[in-house]
Amino acid sequence: MKPLFCFLLLFLISEMHSFDLIIEGIPDDLKNLLDLEVDGFLSKLMAGSGRYQRSTSDEHSGESTDDSDKIGIYSYKVQSTITSRLASTMIQSKVVNNAKHPQHLVFEVQIPKGAFIDNFTMDVNGITFTSSIKEKSEARRMYAQARAKGKAAGIVRSNALDMENFRTEVNVPGGTKVQFEIHYQEMIRRRLSSYEHTISLRPGRLAKHLEVDIRIIEPQGLRYVHTPNTLGDHFDGITTLSKGEKKAHISFKPTLAQQRKCPTCSSTAVDGNFVVQYDVNREKAAGELEIFNGYFIHFFAPENLDPLPKNILFVIDVSGSMWGLKMKQTIEAMKAILGQLQPSDQFSLLDFNHNVRCWRDGLVEATPSQIDEAKNYIQGIHPNGGTNINEALLRATFILNEAKNLGMLDPNSVSMIVFVSDGDPTVGELKLTTIQKNVKQNMQDDFSLHCLGIGFDVDYDFLQRLAQENRGTAQRIFGNQETSSQMQQFYSQVSTPLLRNIEFNYPQESVSDITQNSFHNYFGGSEIVVSGKVDTQNLQHLESVVTATASNAQLVMETLADVEELDDFMSKDKYADPKFTEKLWAYLTVNQLLAERNLAPTAALKRNITKSILQMSLNHHIVTPFTAMVIENPNGDERMLADQPRDNKKGCCPGTLGITPKVPDKTIPSWANPTPVAPSPASAQKAPTFAMKPIHTVDNDPHFIINLPKSQKNICFNINAEPGKILNLVSDADTGVVVNGQLIGAKKQEHEKLNTYFGKIGFYFKSKDLKVEVSTEMITLKDGSYSTGLSWADTGSIIRKRLLVSVKREHNVTITVDGEMSFMVVLHRVWKNHPVNVDFLGIYIPPSNPFSSKAHGLIGQFMPEPEVSIFNERPGQDPKKPEATMEFKGHKFTVTRGLQKDYRTDRVFGTDVQCWFVHNSGKGFIDGHYTDYLVPHLYSFLKNP
Ligand SMILES: *[C@@H]1O[C@H](CO)[C@@H](O)[C@H](O)[C@H]1NC(C)=O
Ligand SMILES: *[C@@H]1O[C@H](CO)[C@@H](O)[C@H](O)[C@H]1NC(C)=O
Ligand SMILES: *[C@@H]1O[C@H](CO)[C@@H](O)[C@H](O)[C@H]1NC(C)=O
Repeated sequence: MKPLFCFLLLFLISEMHSFDLIIEGIPDDLKNLLDLEVDGFLSKLMAGSGRYQRSTSDEHSGESTDDSDKIGIYSYKVQSTITSRLASTMIQSKVVNNAKHPQHLVFEVQIPKGAFIDNFTMDVNGITFTSSIKEKSEARRMYAQARAKGKAAGIVRSNALDMENFRTEVNVPGGTKVQFEIHYQEMIRRRLSSYEHTISLRPGRLAKHLEVDIRIIEPQGLRYVHTPNTLGDHFDGITTLSKGEKKAHISFKPTLAQQRKCPTCSSTAVDGNFVVQYDVNREKAAGELEIFNGYFIHFFAPENLDPLPKNILFVIDVSGSMWGLKMKQTIEAMKAILGQLQPSDQFSLLDFNHNVRCWRDGLVEATPSQIDEAKNYIQGIHPNGGTNINEALLRATFILNEAKNLGMLDPNSVSMIVFVSDGDPTVGELKLTTIQKNVKQNMQDDFSLHCLGIGFDVDYDFLQRLAQENRGTAQRIFGNQETSSQMQQFYSQVSTPLLRNIEFNYPQESVSDITQNSFHNYFGGSEIVVSGKVDTQNLQHLESVVTATASNAQLVMETLADVEELDDFMSKDKYADPKFTEKLWAYLTVNQLLAERNLAPTAALKRNITKSILQMSLNHHIVTPFTAMVIENPNGDERMLADQPRDNKKGCCPGTLGITPKVPDKTIPSWANPTPVAPSPASAQKAPTFAMKPIHTVDNDPHFIINLPKSQKNICFNINAEPGKILNLVSDADTGVVVNGQLIGAKKQEHEKLNTYFGKIGFYFKSKDLKVEVSTEMITLKDGSYSTGLSWADTGSIIRKRLLVSVKREHNVTITVDGEMSFMVVLHRVWKNHPVNVDFLGIYIPPSNPFSSKAHGLIGQFMPEPEVSIFNERPGQDPKKPEATMEFKGHKFTVTRGLQKDYRTDRVFGTDVQCWFVHNSGKGFIDGHYTDYLVPHLYSFLKNP
């Protein structure tokens, strides 16, 4: 026979710190919400943080409250796996009611705000209750059904600061064993140069077996892993950490004796957060592209950049409610923050209550004396009066706008307002939507607004919307002793802007469903993460190009990743989550949709976004604000409902409670969103190859590589001519062969230089009167007035007068003349929307081609291998690039040893070829000056060879 249960499932998102407020009184509407067991519930709140104390329900209220031995935690286990920033955590607790009478067993855990719960199970004496995720109204309907039969549990929703409480309470008969298990997932954000994974560890009682087990798997490699002892000195030396190159394992397993507060205590000392901090290796600036299971994740967190100057305006609420600790802490924080301004920064201060006062009329330079004066000003503030938020923010935008109009803002600088307030507006414009509209209208696109809400009287939702809408970020601050350090930490996160206007580009034809890919700012210590789906069926490599403005340059950073690169690594690790890319994508997408919904101007659009979020939630099995979790036994005749905290801040518990329920903290601050590091072989442009034989090549920017097999040397040089110009490569009047190449330019300059490439190659075989034109679009053969062509989408050949043109679809074309002379042209395709690069061609000419001794041209002149001597090798300016003297045809000049790319075997990355580099467009090595090789037409012979 089935035992009879009474369930009470509470989702309590409460300010832990405001419990003292709650007990002052309980409004009727909260009673209604709680629905049952209100008194028992409250008694627990009053008792504070004990998690498994027995509640004084009516039947037992006369008994002694010391029942602590009668409820036992048999085991309490936390397992967490972080796979490339994706943390999946399980908390499992096995509890038994050792008493003879029924008791409430409570399972209460805190999960980080913003994490998505994906599973909850409960096993009561062998009967397993499993969870399913349902659209909210559907879940409520199912719940109501069960309730009609008297077999359902109640629900409470409310909110907390950076944690959310999940609370289940089950009334079970004596002797019953219950196992609770919850799973949740989140993406760990990089803040202040580290990832921090926090697990709330508050079992409430001694546990026979207590264990925290964390595994970190980071394909980029772990720079460090640190486990600060946040649980207290009591636990010194109990945590073990083993760290490998890319993996780490952390274990915390205090014995029963170690858990005790004191040797004779029956209460546990385990009551706090278990924290792991780490960072990953970042070798290259363009970030890391990780591709797995049809999704890519791009982590971008460049370092070693000079900070951009900033224009910063602090707007500080000094209304009466700030009086006391809050103001004292704010002053302390502001003095520290002002002290950190850089000499290149401009700043000012504004304080407001019902009036607005400006410390200075406009922005001033952050000189030591100005900073001192600002500190003195702050020190003298005495809070009083009302709160005129509208006026204060409009004045701040006015100051920035004016400075901009007067040309006082460095075009490379970042402008921001940091707004600090602890309450709703009480003076002037009171309507929040109107304030929002006013601010938005007056903020220019390149200004951002960051909002700090102190304490809980402030409408944090409003601050969040205000920040989101104006490219900033919002943070709530407790308003206690830690206010100052919290404010300083927040400031540190936005104090070092390193890049502006960051855009992430991917080949349109290979990727879809990309998350946000353009960002206003990147702040030092953070990370931008972009994700999307990628069609790996027809792809070997995925390339990305990030463009951004740094303090002294326009940056173009390329990353290239092999789509199978992670397969091997992932298959060898039994802990790594094979769905990490998909989960990260879903996490980012849902958070983004939630932010978009928050800002949606019309109800119709809101509904649409809600629908998308709901679909994501059901597809990926995660609880979002539009879904709820139904927990039921196998027969489906006993149900519980776990709902999300309410969306509507003022909806449930009017201010009297001191709880301001709010939307879970889903802001995606643009600065917190960046991600990292995939090596960008900036030089690794794509190019092809003609078998690995000695060969003369011109490829990529035009880099010429002249191979000298007899002396076993390669000589290379670059030609920098303008787009549109035509260069002669081979001109052999005796055999009647001409090869010319026409230059095209990249779409934009990179490092002050416009790269040029061959966009068209022309071959003229005079004796046959045949011309072949190879462009990046197609290959055309002309015989007098007759012309025929193949497109690069074809694989095929044309034969005419013993000349064979053979095209390998999207790769290369070989031209063979009479079976004895050959050329290969390789196509380098970049993606359609590539921000910088264009499609281009490389040409490979074997030295064995039977040209005449009179052959000339940039390549032709080296066809019979010339005598070259290189001597006096010596260290160069760059220790990796030795210098030497080259003697050639009577000239002596300095050459430098370097690497060039040969793309014959590795079409994408190229193969490094050691060569002696001749400077100044080949001066001294090529006959004459490079301009001597400019010809008027694609089929022109050189005039005076
Ligand atoms: C939820 O967790 C239980 C217990 O670990 C497991 O059996 C079940 O498959 C999980 N459900 C989902 C949807 O992951
Ligand atoms: C909502 O979505 C539908 C279908 O995707 C679309 O046709 C419609 O235009 C959208 N409405 C709004 C207001 O965006
Ligand atoms: C041309 O491209 C095809 C396809 O990549 C490759 O197999 C072939 O080796 C290339 N031809 C030469 C001559 O390199």
